[in-house]
Amino acid sequence: MGNRTITLTDNSTGKSIELPLLEGTAGAPVLDVRSLNKELGCFTFDPGFKATASCESTITYLDGAKGELMYRGYPIEQLAEHCSFLEVCYLLLHGDLPNKDEKDTFVDEIRYHTMINEGLRTFLSGFRYDAHPMAMMTGVIGSLSAFYHDSLNLNDPEQRMTTAHRLIAKIPTIAAATYKHSIGEPVLYPRNDLSYTGNFLYMMWGRPTEPYEPDPVAEQALDVLFLLHADHEQNASTSTVRLAGSSQTNPFGAIAAGTASLWGPAHGGANEAVLRMLDEIGSVDNIDKFVARAKDKNDPFRLMGFGHRVYKNFDPRAKIIKKMAHRVLQDYGDDPRMELALRLEEIALKDDYFVSRKLYPNVDFYSGIIYQALGFPYEMFTVLFAIGRTVGWISHWMEMVSDPKMVIGRPRQLYTGAARRDVPPIESR
Ligand code: CMC
Repeated sequence: MGNRTITLTDNSTGKSIELPLLEGTAGAPVLDVRSLNKELGCFTFDPGFKATASCESTITYLDGAKGELMYRGYPIEQLAEHCSFLEVCYLLLHGDLPNKDEKDTFVDEIRYHTMINEGLRTFLSGFRYDAHPMAMMTGVIGSLSAFYHDSLNLNDPEQRMTTAHRLIAKIPTIAAATYKHSIGEPVLYPRNDLSYTGNFLYMMWGRPTEPYEPDPVAEQALDVLFLLHADHEQNASTSTVRLAGSSQTNPFGAIAAGTASLWGPAHGGANEAVLRMLDEIGSVDNIDKFVARAKDKNDPFRLMGFGHRVYKNFDPRAKIIKKMAHRVLQDYGDDPRMELALRLEEIALKDDYFVSRKLYPNVDFYSGIIYQALGFPYEMFTVLFAIGRTVGWISHWMEMVSDPKMVIGRPRQLYTGAARRDVPPIESR
């Protein structure tokens, strides 16, 4: 940490305080305002956290201007090329990539936890057949705390790690079960002879009546997609996990809160919204009309899969996914929506509205095209995001609860409601 400071002066009293600027390993320094209320009797105001660092973290760094993303210091492009999703899970949880033995032990540990309690299957069968899978995911993940009592002690590092393994292992089983429930097919037990992603594909597309082997192209593409979604520092769902977890609630409850946050169309729900938007646009001839709508301030329509709070350049994940979409479509057949997406991107990136606001395609823009080519219904897209992101959520939760200085998250507010007044008797209201 350097020794730069910024001096703040209250013009009405003339009182000044010097606030330290804290330097991280990368990125802009942050102004430490913790003494502000004590010294000057005021708080900071920053709706949407546009200028606020909510915590200190060592897990993920992204440079929005350069379009750079790193997990534990490793660039996302190198991880996507050289590592499996489970290696990246290990990296996020432990801080470094596993060697061969560590990887084998970790993979075994995850395999050991892939089954879910039979009671959870009954719980799941209580949902309506047309429930959105994200609604079922939120409910079932929250209910895990009622089934796995032996790993809920936040102060025990071993129990915390068991919870992390359980969540990473069980999320694909729960995700596939929500799909099977929605189509009325039997929920399949995991097959631990397959890879993490191969087993998920089996639980999605397999049937008890016939043999199933995952397609290597689908397995590889989905594994990379999980890896690209694994973490993204203090995004809305991760911040939700941290805030929920800061009350020392159980980790499953905190992850369920994050899952609910992810579902929103401004966040992980955008991948589903992109495909619905491409369907609505329908043909290249209609693109101009939709671009005009996106620019019209009186129209709530936005180009889904465009723009990002932090990236003011190409989202590096979108670049990798776009390339992969071409590869998957070679095997799975051309999709007119790919052509539409490419044309939309081209037009938007030349349009001054998008250029001046630095609105580029984000991670959700091309991922849906791959998901639907692989056969996933639109409703499952955000569930796939949640499978990848679970390890990020749990890594942030572990980082927070293992910090002896952890405090409950409790933002302040600028109150603009009624001033103090007396309750009138009911006859005069
Ligand atoms: N289409 C049209 N205009 C947009 C879009 C868009 N997709 N995104 C931002 N803008 C405009 C916005 O209207 C505003 O214009 P002005 O300055 O004239 O008022 C300006 O760009 C800045 O937008 P903002 O809403 O202040 O930016 P934000 O950082 O608060 O929001 C965002 C970021 C991702 C919520 C937003 O870009 C958006 O709604 N995008 C579409 C939904 C989407 O793709 N979400 C996925 C995000 S990435 C993955 C994830 O987080 O899960």
